Amino acid sequence: MSMVQRLDAADALPGAVELRARTYELLRLEPGCAVIDVGCGAGLAVAELSSLGFPAVGVDLSAEMVEEARRRSPDRDFLIGSAYALPVDGGFAGHRAGKVFHELADPEAALAEARRVLVPGGRIVVSGPGWEALVIDSSYPALTREIARGFRRLLTGNGFVRCRSRA
Ligand SMILES: C[S@@+](CC[C@H](N)C(=O)[O-])C[C@H]1O[C@@H](n2cnc3c(N)ncnc32)[C@H](O)[C@@H]1O
Repeated sequence: MSMVQRLDAADALPGAVELRARTYELLRLEPGCAVIDVGCGAGLAVAELSSLGFPAVGVDLSAEMVEEARRRSPDRDFLIGSAYALPVDGGFAGHRAGKVFHELADPEAALAEARRVLVPGGRIVVSGPGWEALVIDSSYPALTREIARGFRRLLTGNGFVRCRSRA
């Protein structure tokens, strides 16, 4: 199964539509505000955010992914590029990354780059596997818990402030 097929299968799982919608909601974009979707894959979120009226740019390291995204959504904006050196100047109110940060060798560098492209007060929304909801059969539960909590600390340790949900 190719990566695109795996992503399509994930997008067909129960709750996937609601999860994506929740990430858009958490961005709290004002009408017309620009958003960048990093590690955009085949471009579904960019297509959906654009349809909601937000100028959206998708960036992915993989030329094949960007090609597929452009094939599926030819009217939308997709660029080949890295989360560490986004091929944009900035001015984004929202930075979204779905199922990406756990793949990054240097997530702190990607967070610094997110900060560069966000306007003051801009928001980052990262989504991915629910590590604390997974059952990990580990002989070292304390260490496992530390790893599971590490990602949250990564964000707060790099200057991002957690905002409580309005709902
Ligand atoms: C699991 S896929 C998720 C795709 C999409 N966000 C989604 O939710 O369906 C991870 C994506 O991140 C991309 N990616 C991995 N490392 C990256 C990096 N350093 N910079 C930009 N994109 C990256 C991969 O090419 C892949 O398309």
